[in-house]
Amino acid sequence: MTSLIRSAVRRFGPTSGLRFSARLYSESAKSVRRGDATSTSKYELVGVVVNNDANNSSATTNEDVSLSIDYKARNEPRRTTVSVKWLRDHCRSDTLYNWQTRQRKDDMTGLSGKAQLLPDAQASDPLAKHGVLLHPDSQTIQLNWKDGHKTVFDIDTLLDLYHLPADTDVSPLQQLWTGESLKKLPVVEAANSAEFAKNFVKYGIVAVEGVGHENGAATKALCETIAPFHTTFYEDFWVFSNQAQQSKDEQYHEDTAYSNEALAPHTDGTYFEQTPGIQVFHCLHPAASGGDTILVDGFNAVRQLHLSNPHAFDVLTRTLVPHHYLEGEVIDARCDVFPVIRLDSDGRLHQVRFNPYDRAPFKARKGTTVSDIADFYKSYEALARLMNDQSASLRVPLRPGTVLFIDNYRVLHGRTAFSGYRQLCGCYLSRDAFLSKARRHIPSVYRHDVS
Ligand SMILES: [Fe+2]
Repeated sequence: MTSLIRSAVRRFGPTSGLRFSARLYSESAKSVRRGDATSTSKYELVGVVVNNDANNSSATTNEDVSLSIDYKARNEPRRTTVSVKWLRDHCRSDTLYNWQTRQRKDDMTGLSGKAQLLPDAQASDPLAKHGVLLHPDSQTIQLNWKDGHKTVFDIDTLLDLYHLPADTDVSPLQQLWTGESLKKLPVVEAANSAEFAKNFVKYGIVAVEGVGHENGAATKALCETIAPFHTTFYEDFWVFSNQAQQSKDEQYHEDTAYSNEALAPHTDGTYFEQTPGIQVFHCLHPAASGGDTILVDGFNAVRQLHLSNPHAFDVLTRTLVPHHYLEGEVIDARCDVFPVIRLDSDGRLHQVRFNPYDRAPFKARKGTTVSDIADFYKSYEALARLMNDQSASLRVPLRPGTVLFIDNYRVLHGRTAFSGYRQLCGCYLSRDAFLSKARRHIPSVYRHDVS
């Protein structure tokens, strides 16, 4: 029998106006407030229910105990149920959390024993009998633990930490696009890092104009202001063309990128476990004809797949696809630990790894059936058709002076066939390092949406 004990907490008055929010803890009944005194509260605490399965023997050790928290968000009533283990794990007391380094202090070997509420048989309040206290004035919930520790959360902090499940499949900061909707490259001033960061997160592509194009020097200098190079066997920065094999000054690798053939949309570096995150292109010498750059919002294509064929979407989120780059006896790069579509812990799109050219022989795991393999191919083909749908792509003739930055986790690139000499320079940049600094330009409530 589940015993639901609703506290007798009264309905609180409106919490409009300003009050302290976030990060509040008390080892005693006296509250210690931290945080931004000027922030506006997002949630209004209404009540708490202790869920305690009395018939379950594990309940005696609080294995299955949870709190259902009733609150209002924009005046709409909501309920979120949180395990007491989670609450203990996220205690922000100085005992359990280092505020200087923002690191936990617990080694997690004894969480089950520590996450036990201390009942108070003498208490008159039904919640307090279970070791839970509500403080309406400060909008806080206090948990008394059997080991003597006390945890206090204010409602904003608790719900922000709990990170309510996303109700969209992409970040609210991202604007999915097709060639038709975007029409042209988003151009920003290089020096404006906030604008660069916001556009990069929003569209997955950003262009900077007016960059020197006599050689790759100005491009390299620009890149160094944005993020560290993501070094691979291609080295930090490269200048190459379709005639690189005959040139002493250009890098050459045995790859179709160094030819004048058309390349269908793809992401780079699928054969690396550490996939390059940001790709940079600068066309220093355009082809006599052709050689347009093709860009596809991979997240938009994947969302279309999710809507039209959820089974194929699911297959591509869980089938690990091997890729490799083999160059004689010199280079042997392989990666077979990721699916085509990677989701984050919210279930939102995190990365698309799509490169039909660089796929290694498909390996059947133990237990994989012929039907499973056919299912994968059907799913991959469905996505390939969406990726190559001309209406999805933005086709731009890159010109000297315009440097293009691409989120290689989201946006695919390709090119049309061309004739004549075509020279590019470019590099990969560290996406991790870039986002680490770019997040400061994102409102704090959305930072966890940038991954
Ligand atoms: Fe490429």
